[in-house]
Amino acid sequence: MSAPTSSSAAGEAAERLAALVGRTTLHPPVAASLALSLRSLVADGRLPVGGRLPAERELATALGVSRVTVSSAYRRLRESGWARSRTGAGTWTSVPDRSGVVAAFVPGAPRDGTVDLSYASPAGPPEVADAYAAALEALPHLLPSHGYLAGGLADLRARVAERMTARGLTTTAERVLVTTGASAGVSGALRAGTSPGDRVLVEHPTWPNALDVLRMIGARAVPVPRDPTATWGAAGFPGALHRAARETSPAMAYLVPHHANPTGGVLTAEEQRRVAASLQQHDVLTIADETLADLALGPEGGPEDGPGGTGDAADAPPPLAADARPGAVVTVGSLSKSVWAGLRVGWLVGEPSFLHRVASTASREHGALPVVDQLAACVLLDGLDAGLVARRAQLRVQRDALVGALRATLPTWEVPVPPGGLSLWCRLPRGLSSSAVVDAAERHGLFLSTGSRFGTGHAFDDHLRLPFTQPVPVLEDAVARLAAAAADAERAWGAPTTSRGGAVLG
Ligand SMILES: Cc1ncc(COP(=O)(O)O)c(C=O)c1O
Repeated sequence: MSAPTSSSAAGEAAERLAALVGRTTLHPPVAASLALSLRSLVADGRLPVGGRLPAERELATALGVSRVTVSSAYRRLRESGWARSRTGAGTWTSVPDRSGVVAAFVPGAPRDGTVDLSYASPAGPPEVADAYAAALEALPHLLPSHGYLAGGLADLRARVAERMTARGLTTTAERVLVTTGASAGVSGALRAGTSPGDRVLVEHPTWPNALDVLRMIGARAVPVPRDPTATWGAAGFPGALHRAARETSPAMAYLVPHHANPTGGVLTAEEQRRVAASLQQHDVLTIADETLADLALGPEGGPEDGPGGTGDAADAPPPLAADARPGAVVTVGSLSKSVWAGLRVGWLVGEPSFLHRVASTASREHGALPVVDQLAACVLLDGLDAGLVARRAQLRVQRDALVGALRATLPTWEVPVPPGGLSLWCRLPRGLSSSAVVDAAERHGLFLSTGSRFGTGHAFDDHLRLPFTQPVPVLEDAVARLAAAAADAERAWGAPTTSRGGAVLG
């Protein structure tokens, strides 16, 4: 279809939008196809949220379709929350309330008959209860103190320092600050190192909560593409990071070098050296989040004694800080993914003066950390290497089962096998929107996070993160629900069929 030209400004806006939509990509039913296309443009950031859409007649002319078709597409967008209208005033793009940034990561109470894959965190092992029993026995020794342990329990800081040293970063307890999970470590370090308006380099995709903190601070995230399928073994990310550091004068960088969330990707030793050198050259204070570093799983179907199989601290890759001068990198760690998120024990390792700034804010906000949790964390760190052998073996089986179920049920989805971490980062077939799938999945009792949670500017609506943190039967059930949801999303939005027939619920 060829588009007539218009000299009016409104006509030009409609022409530009028609070019973005791609006139030849619309397919029957055209109204649904146009609505999906517009929704994807909003979701991936190419159309600004709150931007005015062209009048129906103008867009119809530009696209060479009937006005009824555009009217019906706009109605679909309004009904699904992707547009709002005021009678006589026009139609504006919007984002549905349910895809709001905060809502997606406040886990609701589990309901019977539902599967929650909206967050990636394994169940706690029985050793946690044993560790708390041991902690209660040790508690009487600490009762004579006032209980406000500045910087954290000395024994815990010493253990963290020992573990970092075993991984290749020689350090001491004075350079360790205990935090309420890695979350408090990341937000404390970002607050201490940035001011409103500062730029912060982030790998893209990245852990969403870091992006939320940057938004709250008023700092600007500068996304640096880290495509795991290109990064594993290839040299793309360090070069992109170097250019971004040179061109944007960032105050800080936030990176997850080993088994990133959501991709599971790792920097090779050589990539890590290049990244550390660039950031140092441009004087960028870097947060290296090592929360998932213990979770190397090796190749698909790999042997149990493959990479990550033995569970020694020395098996985990050296921290990024080991390649940088002292003070250039603040390392974040946590027991949340290696043991259990319910512990809420994490740490920062860095320059004492920087940690002091983080600690002052933390102590103003919530005093000090619970002593019993830190005593339990000591016991758990002592047994961590043994516990990791079992954890990795279980995660490897679950990862491979989820990959297998997806390949069998949704063969047109791209499912790279990550070398570690807790989740798959799947690319959806062209035209299928992750937010549409997430909406539909909820109706099948499956809770997911949209791909765009992991990016800036609504990028990644063509991706979905699927954690493999639950038992195999639950994951298989989740894939059946997912296939049903994908089929619903395709029906509602007119995307091409992706699932293998029959393997869906209902
Ligand atoms: C990369 C990364 N950092 C930090 C966290 C939060 O960890 P914590 O539970 O210790 O606060 C997560 C949790 O998903 C994560 O994936």
